[in-house]
Amino acid sequence: MKYETQKIAYNYFLIATLLFGLQVVFGLITGAKYVWDHDPLINILPFNVSREIHINLLVVWLLFGFMGGTYYLVPEESETEIYSPGLANFQLVLFALIGVTAIVGYIFRWSWGMPFLEQPTILKIGIVIVALIFLFNILMTMLKTRKWTVIQGVLLGGLVMLALLFLFGIFFMKNLTEQYYYWWWVIHLWVEGAWELVTGAIMAFVLLKLTGVERELVEKWLYVETGLVLFTGIVGTGHHYYWIGTPHYWLWVGGIFSALEPLPILFMVIDTLRDVREKKIEIENKTAVYWAIGCAVMHFFGAGVWGFAHTLPQINKWTHGTQITASHGHFAFFGAYAMLNLTVIYFAVPRIKGVKLVRNGLSLMALRTMTFSMILIALSLAVAGIVQVYLQRVLGMDYLTVQGFMKLWYAVFWASAWGFAIGAFMYIVDFFRLSSTTSARAQQ
Ligand code: HEM
Ligand code: HEM
Ligand SMILES: [Fe+2]
Repeated sequence: MKYETQKIAYNYFLIATLLFGLQVVFGLITGAKYVWDHDPLINILPFNVSREIHINLLVVWLLFGFMGGTYYLVPEESETEIYSPGLANFQLVLFALIGVTAIVGYIFRWSWGMPFLEQPTILKIGIVIVALIFLFNILMTMLKTRKWTVIQGVLLGGLVMLALLFLFGIFFMKNLTEQYYYWWWVIHLWVEGAWELVTGAIMAFVLLKLTGVERELVEKWLYVETGLVLFTGIVGTGHHYYWIGTPHYWLWVGGIFSALEPLPILFMVIDTLRDVREKKIEIENKTAVYWAIGCAVMHFFGAGVWGFAHTLPQINKWTHGTQITASHGHFAFFGAYAMLNLTVIYFAVPRIKGVKLVRNGLSLMALRTMTFSMILIALSLAVAGIVQVYLQRVLGMDYLTVQGFMKLWYAVFWASAWGFAIGAFMYIVDFFRLSSTTSARAQQ
């Protein structure tokens, strides 16, 4: 760690880690409702409430991680301290308070009711204030030296896009089609646009520092990926406009452009593997490198392959809104963004704590357990989805009868989820061990 204010990132990573743990707990509670005949929590925490807490925690912890990653990255790229550490800490506390209020509020049914964007308007305004403070602080830091790098440019572009798009999720529209039209500007354009840029920039930075490859090489690919992500990702929004009452041309536009979306993601995998291979110096922190490779591969399968599988309108008309969607949602979010944040944490935290991390057994065990379990989660939900599509959509059986036939696969899903929870627990233990460890112990 070269700059004192890079330390700010640690508290962001700490909160991200705690919320990740809580997200998994709420995942298990939500999943239990698939397999248990009698739900003892039905009146306190029904399915819709535990589901909204589960997915909101996901988004909030990922945002904490992105912000932490940014606070770690920017001083080193700009070669200057963060403009205002006070603002950065204030922003952290404010965001955490809003997050906690939202979650407690959901339990008391204080909710707006749009998946992922359930926060009541007043809390959304608070989130906008958090985003403005964050962007202001980052921009002022970059302007202090005016040392522009491609990594910084892409990161800033992604973060501004992320904040601007959120505004489209604040207004309430009477017409449901219009509402969903703009909902996707947040949901799709976040995960397949803005977040991809943030991810690309952060991954490029981490690989640059870990492997010591030429900056020009990493940056050249970042240009290509950014261009392609924006090109395919923005028009690819059409894959959500097939069946909501929008004009017919979206079938063509959405089908063709979203089918091209795996390309930039594939380039990211190739890029990562090449960067790791073309290392000029011996890689020291192997733990972080394994996470980076895992992330690139899982990102490609979860988002690229699992996304492509149901993106063409001819297929999506059968699979839309089934467990196939949930299978892809889990796989993509975990592979692309949860793993990215864990990569950054394993890269930055040892540096912040002054620990020389080489090969950390517990971390790699967590990596294997979570990855393997997530593949099982994705597969079991996919099979449940295929049963659902066939019985409900092809044979025309009614919804609830079909749910009964899916139970076996829900049970496989829930068992795999416990495996995932064990992996997540290992990671959390390791995070705290790393935070309070000496150099020698971290290498075990
Ligand atoms: C990291 C990137 C991605 C993430 C995190 C992600 C996540 C998600 C999530 C959570 C949903 C469910 C939304 C909802 O209805 O509640 C979804 C839907 C969908 N995704 Fe992705 N996705 C990603 C990339 C992609 C890509 C690259 C493609 C296409 C190649 C794709 C194709 C689709 C399609 C077609 C749907 C709609 C499913 C339906 O009709 O029910 N996704 N995605
Ligand atoms: C212990 C493990 C987990 C369990 C048991 C679990 C369970 C569930 C359940 C039951 C749902 C509701 C699906 C529905 O609407 O029918 C859900 C939604 C979701 N979960 Fe999880 N989850 C777990 C871990 C995760 C992880 C690690 C991630 C991402 C990193 C994640 C991301 C999501 C997303 C994006 C949705 C919304 C999907 C959609 O809109 O289609 N979950 N989860
Ligand atoms: Fe999408």
